[in-house]
Amino acid sequence: MRLLVTGGAGYIGSVVSRLLLAEGHDVTVLDDLSTGHADAVADGAEFVQADIADAGVVLARQSYDGVVHFAAKSLVGQSVVDPSLYWRTNVGGTRELLDAVTAHGVPRFVFSSTAAVYGEPEELPIRETAPARPTNPYGASKLAVDMMLGGEATAHGLAAVSLRYFNVGGASRGAGERHAMETHLIPIALDAAAGVRPALDIYGTDWPTPDGTCIRDYVHVEDLARAHLLALNAAQPSQHLICNLGNGGGFSVREVVETIREVTGLAVPVNESSRRPGDPATLVASHELAADALGWTPTADLSRIVADAWDFHRSRRTTQTSVS
Ligand code: UFG
Repeated sequence: MRLLVTGGAGYIGSVVSRLLLAEGHDVTVLDDLSTGHADAVADGAEFVQADIADAGVVLARQSYDGVVHFAAKSLVGQSVVDPSLYWRTNVGGTRELLDAVTAHGVPRFVFSSTAAVYGEPEELPIRETAPARPTNPYGASKLAVDMMLGGEATAHGLAAVSLRYFNVGGASRGAGERHAMETHLIPIALDAAAGVRPALDIYGTDWPTPDGTCIRDYVHVEDLARAHLLALNAAQPSQHLICNLGNGGGFSVREVVETIREVTGLAVPVNESSRRPGDPATLVASHELAADALGWTPTADLSRIVADAWDFHRSRRTTQTSVS
């Protein structure tokens, strides 16, 4: 297939691009490099530096079999302080992209949605039928796109799949997590273990969980990438499929810290700090539907996720040291 990957210079987009190319697909990456890195774009992909609102120019040049849409603002905390950025980029930008998809007759669309659409769940594990009540503008903006995709499938016959990621970690084929403004637990805790930061702040120890810290479902970026390939193949015209992607098991912040200590052999200095606005207490996925509809099952456990993230972290520090 010829595929347009928006956000292909970012963490997950760069891993998925590598897998698509390895499987013989043609990939064009569209990324404005606002948070991505040009050197993360997969070798063998064509690269266009542009905003998603300008995707029509690319889609007009040749016919595409699908769009895999990662480009987005994706930080829960930032979305609480700057909601407008999230509505403009994630909703307004995606609306423009979808209009271009329709105008140029692109048949398939796979979208990076998120567990953040569910808010504080009533039942665990979370199924796709659970009520979507996001507790922050990031989740709300992603839910708005999920809802738009239903309309595109009905009105224009789009074969659409929303993949609702839980907490993604690990690295693959030399691509991993490296945000200029890092907010995610695993890379920050690895920095603390390596002495790059003084300590990890644990955001809240008074949550209604067994050890008082938030529980999340961590899934390996390689497992996640495979789901995109399966989704491109499973997508059906006029249907909008929504699937959760998680491991089906939860780990508290303290348990993640302990796993990092075991995997790295290093202590992780921590500060017990106050809750972060917008965080739900517990998010754990049911991936039953992903198994039934896509034939997807996750393979990597938390130790592997941490081990691969740690290898990536060390390789970057070695490169940075030898360059400086
Ligand atoms: N945390 C800390 N200290 C930190 C960073 C995180 O205690 O320095 C805690 C958070 O409060 C949360 C957990 O670690 O309880 C995980 O936080 P992340 O920032 O790593 O991930 P989030 O759960 O906030 O969000 C991620 C993605 C979202 C996605 C969500 C779904 O960034 O896009 O997972 O679970 F929606």
